[in-house]
Amino acid sequence: MQFPEYRPRRMRRSEGLRRMIRETRLSVDNLVYPLFICPGREVRRPISTMPGQSQVSVDQAVIEAKECLDLGIPAVILFGVPDDAKKDRVGSDAWHNDGLVQQACRAIKRACPELVVILDSCFDEYTSHGHCGVVMPEAGWPDVDNDATLENLGRVVVSQAKAGADLVAPSGMMDGFVTASREALDEAGYSHVGIMAYSAKYASCFYGPFRQAAGTASGFGHRKSYQMDPANSDEAIREAALDQDEGADVLMVKPALAYLDVIARLHEECDLPLAAYNVSGEYAMLKAAVEKGLVGEEQAVLEVLTSIRRAGAGIILTYHAKDAARWLAHSSR
Ligand code: PBG
Repeated sequence: MQFPEYRPRRMRRSEGLRRMIRETRLSVDNLVYPLFICPGREVRRPISTMPGQSQVSVDQAVIEAKECLDLGIPAVILFGVPDDAKKDRVGSDAWHNDGLVQQACRAIKRACPELVVILDSCFDEYTSHGHCGVVMPEAGWPDVDNDATLENLGRVVVSQAKAGADLVAPSGMMDGFVTASREALDEAGYSHVGIMAYSAKYASCFYGPFRQAAGTASGFGHRKSYQMDPANSDEAIREAALDQDEGADVLMVKPALAYLDVIARLHEECDLPLAAYNVSGEYAMLKAAVEKGLVGEEQAVLEVLTSIRRAGAGIILTYHAKDAARWLAHSSR
């Protein structure tokens, strides 16, 4: 194909032609809306670092869930934001049968049985030190004890399955976390509950706004001994291959935007459905740019979400989900 015989602009002359050759479809089916569950009744605490998002009590989470269902969004993912008084060194409230996400899951499933509920299976919202597992300061440098954390993880995923979760999402980047989750679920009679594995979760600064909202800014150290080095992508393939072999149902890359190449590689090299988490810092940056009048919100959000879709993620966890669902209902994307 050569100019002047081939002129690519011919197929860009009208919206009809552009629609006909559009390669990537972004649909409401691709979206998952994250919710932060806090204690209390009729509570809505706006999150200052994430304009437009709030921490909500269980009753308000049900209202949010109904709204998602009405907008055609297929799934929500829930995070717990317990009071400091509930936190301890191992994060035991994470596996409480009446914990925040367990309660919220039951209430949402009662009100909207057809909405998919994903529960984030981690400890950092529940530990006094803010790390993603059992910390063993006795072992020298404060680090998370992998295998002790796996034992507790089994308890978490079973309590979440009991609450009616469709998918559990172990997010702590412990080695063997899919095996531990699968075995615990199967032993407890929940072989039908799926696992969305945070396969390639990077030690990223883009979680900042979420950590402020969830109160999980670690009191000491950092997470580089369990979350991945942003410089690596071969390692992401190895992590994903492990999760796939261990029985994961969905793989995830997190964050999304600075890691589109990683999403594309996993899409090429792995067989499982692929998710990407468009995290709080990515959301907050876009919102800040909109507020400054630098970009238009609808176009920016749909362009960003389309880029994640184009890279190969079929599932996008995003705080923009409700807005995007409304815009998509009125556009031809
Ligand atoms: C960890 C967790 C993180 C996020 C949600 N759960 C990452 C972290 O703090 O290490 C980040 C979500 C976001 O930034 O949107 N359980």
